[in-house]
Amino acid sequence: MSFPEVRMRRLRRSEGLRRLVRETRVGPADLVQPLFVVSGSGVDRPIPSLPGQRHISPDVAGALAAEAHARGVGGMLLFGLPDDKDEQGSSAWDDAGPVQSALREMRAQAPGLPLMTDVCLCQYTSHGACGVLREGEVDNDATLPLLARVAVSHARAGADAVAPSDMMDGRVAALRASLDGEGFERTAIFAYSTKFASAFYGPFRGAAGSTPKSGDRKGYQLDPANAREAVREALLDAAEGADAVMVKPALPYLDVIARVRDACPLPLAAYQVSGEYAMLEAAAAAGALDRRTAILESLTAIRRAGADLVITYWASEAAEWLT
Ligand code: PBG
Repeated sequence: MSFPEVRMRRLRRSEGLRRLVRETRVGPADLVQPLFVVSGSGVDRPIPSLPGQRHISPDVAGALAAEAHARGVGGMLLFGLPDDKDEQGSSAWDDAGPVQSALREMRAQAPGLPLMTDVCLCQYTSHGACGVLREGEVDNDATLPLLARVAVSHARAGADAVAPSDMMDGRVAALRASLDGEGFERTAIFAYSTKFASAFYGPFRGAAGSTPKSGDRKGYQLDPANAREAVREALLDAAEGADAVMVKPALPYLDVIARVRDACPLPLAAYQVSGEYAMLEAAAAAGALDRRTAILESLTAIRRAGADLVITYWASEAAEWLT
């Protein structure tokens, strides 16, 4: 059968009909809100490179967690900005650091809200690389025990899941072994499995103070041209014991999300990164598109491609629209 018996428009006639046959839904529970935590108390200041996002102290993080939990947001992902940096990034595993302190506040003020932490050294190293350097290159194997110390300190402070974003080989297995060895066998690992060497992280690096002092991250993050390699990364992380895998960025990599979805049964997260956020915010501010409709369309597209959950700077705001 075809036209005129077939009329695709029949089921598009009203919002009720469209809702009935909608294939993809986005709800607050699918969204994870990133937070940028600094030390101190009562700190809440706008981030110039990410308008709409804030640098907050642990007490403010606690209050935001309670608010997000009440809105039904799926979870929060913490990034820390330390007071001190060194060659090794040792402030990353300081039990009194901003992330660790925020976790305790958030745990107390929003029990039941899933809390995830980014595990990487780039905000904490004086050189801005994601691991320790040897002859100007990030030393993979020497970095693994340091990342494991970070993960254990986050688990100790109450993280439900740690999310390694460093892209060292073997880090999921290293984290799992250390977490289990320290009695944190219940802490999950959300692996940033397929993290591309992307220009779309630009605003984040300003927000997190993690711009590399020299060079780039192409020696460990994936080449944007490679989708088969991305599937291999996801499967390797699954084999090392990851509980969930991630694709990052999201919108320019929808094909990768779809491929990883097909190849790997683990829960799949997609990270709608800072450059995607900045791009849409700038277009909306310029009057080029309707902000809210465009945000919801982008989230729907990421879910449609196969992501179970979306890490997005719009999580808390979108959750309010979606309830
Ligand atoms: C840290 C990290 C980065 C992002 C998440 N974790 C930056 C990078 O790898 O350069 C990017 C997030 C964003 O752009 O929103 N390794």
